[in-house]
Amino acid sequence: MGTKKLLAPRIAELVSSMAPGPFLDLFSGIAAVGTQVGSNRAIWSNDVQSFSGLLTQQRFCAAMAFTTAPDLVQKALVHFAYNRHVLTEVFGPSVSEEKLLLGAPDPSRLKTLIDDISTLGTEKRVELRAAGAHCMVATTHGGTYVGLTQAIEADSIRYAADRLLLDGDIDQTEHRWMVLALCQAIITANNSTGHFAQFLSPSPTNIHRIVRKRRMSMWSLWRDALINARPLGTVKWRRGNRTFSRNAADLLKSLRSMKRKPAVIYADPPYTSDQYSRYYHLLENIVLYDYPETASKGQYRADRFSSAFSLKSSVDAAFSDLVSAAARLPAVFVLSYPSNGLLGNSTDRVVDLLCCHFQYVDQPVKMSHLHSTMGGSKGPQKHIVEENIFVAYQDIRARFADRQPTPAALVKPVSMAIQREPIAESEMSAPA
Ligand SMILES: C[S@@+](CC[C@H](N)C(=O)[O-])C[C@H]1O[C@@H](n2cnc3c(N)ncnc32)[C@H](O)[C@@H]1O
Repeated sequence: MGTKKLLAPRIAELVSSMAPGPFLDLFSGIAAVGTQVGSNRAIWSNDVQSFSGLLTQQRFCAAMAFTTAPDLVQKALVHFAYNRHVLTEVFGPSVSEEKLLLGAPDPSRLKTLIDDISTLGTEKRVELRAAGAHCMVATTHGGTYVGLTQAIEADSIRYAADRLLLDGDIDQTEHRWMVLALCQAIITANNSTGHFAQFLSPSPTNIHRIVRKRRMSMWSLWRDALINARPLGTVKWRRGNRTFSRNAADLLKSLRSMKRKPAVIYADPPYTSDQYSRYYHLLENIVLYDYPETASKGQYRADRFSSAFSLKSSVDAAFSDLVSAAARLPAVFVLSYPSNGLLGNSTDRVVDLLCCHFQYVDQPVKMSHLHSTMGGSKGPQKHIVEENIFVAYQDIRARFADRQPTPAALVKPVSMAIQREPIAESEMSAPA
């Protein structure tokens, strides 16, 4: 999902020469870059999506090693079985029909089944909730992104996690590991082209793919994900890490008054008009488990986040706000953005903005990169683009911590710094 996995090692290498201190991954997504920078420095992650927050909280900030997974699987069994039983009573005929169709695939009957499940789900949701059952996935996405049986199992896993927490049988961290493993199971079983923007409607051409996915056991996927779940690095390193869930520019503004500040800010904002909240919505639902109102064929949350970086009308202002907020912190600002991103004439425009606000701006480094278009209407799922890496800073010592900052080092071979008028001292917040 918009991952920078291939670019991450090069960004980590670039960052390694910068002053020590926290690395703030401002648009962390699935945290490919933070993971690569790894334990060389503290990692602060931020993203507006709750799924990203859960992932980075567990991987980067867990207070202890995670050793209780087999125990949690055992504890979950009874609660899981109870909720599954309640839901199967209600959805019984549809569960049987689905089972039959997984043995003898028929696209048109599978399509009819999706409508039947949706009607039944709308009818029964209130009643099931009143009875204390968990039914959000079955009544919202049953038969679409996941099969009905898979949806019932997903609800029942979440029921078990919530029940165990309520009864004091597990702690908050264990609960979060259980929910994160459920997200991973959903990603694996998901019936689409690799994200949640739209599910595949059954047809003769995709029926075998759908059936192959539908036959996966959600419980087994979840159990395996939980057993394999691990935080990164050492306890000591994780203690210095942090996770935020803020609008990026707002977070930067709030950091000005904080004592500890990042040494490097890495920004990887959205670069197309596709809102990331379309790709994450099902995972948001699993994390928040709040029975949202959904709309459109993609079944998106009505309250999903709309990023200014993905709107033609606001992308320029969003960049301007981001760059000016970053420039008021004593950190090196690193930004990656494709040359053909939504921001028009982006290479020149970003350099202009950086030069307006920072004292030093490196010549952008161009890297070829395989971008995900997220498939669907955008054509092939991956294509090569030219990604620009921009670096800007107010103090040379922040940029080149590992060598004497001489003009020669700045000009060749690493970069060509464009020095601008410094911004007023009073406008900048003090370094940590
Ligand atoms: C290009 S992706 C980042 C991918 C990430 N570098 C990775 O490797 O997974 C952009 C991310 O920015 C988040 N986002 C969009 N607008 C935001 C905003 N205004 N503030 C914070 N996060 C935002 C999206 O949820 C998405 O996860």
